[in-house]
Amino acid sequence: MARVLHIEDDPNNRRLVQKLLGAAGHEVIEAEGGVEGIQLARKSQPDLVLVDINIPDLDGYEVTLRLRGISALQEVPIVAITAEGDRDSTLAVGCDGFIAKPIDAAHFADTIAQFLAGHREWAEDASDKLLRLRTQKIVERLEKKIVELSETNQRLEDVARLRREFLQNVSHELATPMTPVVGYLRLLLNEELGPLTDLQRKCLASIETSTQRLRAVVDTLLDVSSLETGRMHYYTRAYDFREVCSNALDQIRPKLDERDVTLVERVPEEPMPAQGDPDKLLRAMVHVLDNASKFTPTGGEVAVEVRAEGDQDLLFEVADSGPGVRPEHIARIMEPFFQVDGSVTRDHGGVGLGLAFARRVTEALGGGIEISSPPAGEVAERQLSGTLVELRVRRSPERPEAQPK
Ligand SMILES: Nc1ncnc2c1ncn2[C@@H]1O[C@H](COP(=O)(O)OP(=O)(O)OP(=O)(O)O)[C@@H](O)[C@H]1O
Ligand SMILES: [Mg+2]
Repeated sequence: MARVLHIEDDPNNRRLVQKLLGAAGHEVIEAEGGVEGIQLARKSQPDLVLVDINIPDLDGYEVTLRLRGISALQEVPIVAITAEGDRDSTLAVGCDGFIAKPIDAAHFADTIAQFLAGHREWAEDASDKLLRLRTQKIVERLEKKIVELSETNQRLEDVARLRREFLQNVSHELATPMTPVVGYLRLLLNEELGPLTDLQRKCLASIETSTQRLRAVVDTLLDVSSLETGRMHYYTRAYDFREVCSNALDQIRPKLDERDVTLVERVPEEPMPAQGDPDKLLRAMVHVLDNASKFTPTGGEVAVEVRAEGDQDLLFEVADSGPGVRPEHIARIMEPFFQVDGSVTRDHGGVGLGLAFARRVTEALGGGIEISSPPAGEVAERQLSGTLVELRVRRSPERPEAQPK
């Protein structure tokens, strides 16, 4: 009875070998990838190694080279089982034999017994050996790097998970006590709990303004959290796309006026009926307008056009005369938290969530976002020099679902 290490990623092949060698009285230990195979070989000191050539991380050639470089394993027979690798290459890297796939089940255990008894298929010259020694060094370094990378990867995944959990907990803990605060404040302000003096009213109004700001921050945090966990909930109802666009423009107009930015609009007169989640869509549009507003310098221009394309697509296009976005940043600014200038000393506020939010929402409504800089075409008959953000949704999307991460 011998201990055989089998390195193979295909579970069916592992099962077959396990069965055939198990029946012959051998103990079979298994690894699914190259790095794991090397670690297991070191730990368990097998009597024979069976290695598939086409396996994850380090392939069968590299595993063999590496095993041959470990002194305790130098005498252990290594047999390649593969459909692809050719016999000469497997022998050249240090295998002692080669078994073609598919395995011949009737003779497999006998063939293995021969290798265990000392049968070898190779003959090598000195130059082969030198080359192998050099290559072994390279593979050794490669193995170390792969192990380091997979550890780093694991750590990054842990950090990402902790961040998601933290966001979820914090946003929930902050949102819950907001409800009674807002509710009681309303009752007080409506004088349902008794008449107010002027001074009391003034104080409460000031509290209300701050509460609204706090509410906006909490809403953003909730959005981040649902974006991160992929658990955004959408409601479907009939709405007028044109009306949502007008509402978004109404919200942004005072901001643009304040900064002396000219707004050129082109919105159709007639309603544009659609199905979807108008509240989320409105917030997506406001985010895009808010960007155009905050990145356009005083005295600049923002152009907005609302239009239908074909009978399904509805478009909300926002162009500005701001600084534009460099080509290498265009895809990245739609990722959560990415900002071209992420420093705390930057001029503009925000957490880098607006476009990520807008992208998820429009995708859930059957469309998406397209960004070009400088703008790919005219918007409201204006060819501006900054950025064009185009939100697209479908009139009747498939039922929007929570987006998988
Ligand atoms: N119209 C634009 N002109 C120039 N840069 C833009 C424009 N829109 C977005 N960007 C760049 O993309 C980044 C991400 O935008 P996004 O709306 O996602 O986040 P934000 O505006 O920084 O913060 P938030 O929207 O959460 O308040 C911005 O920080 C900015 O660097
Ligand atoms: Mg923004």
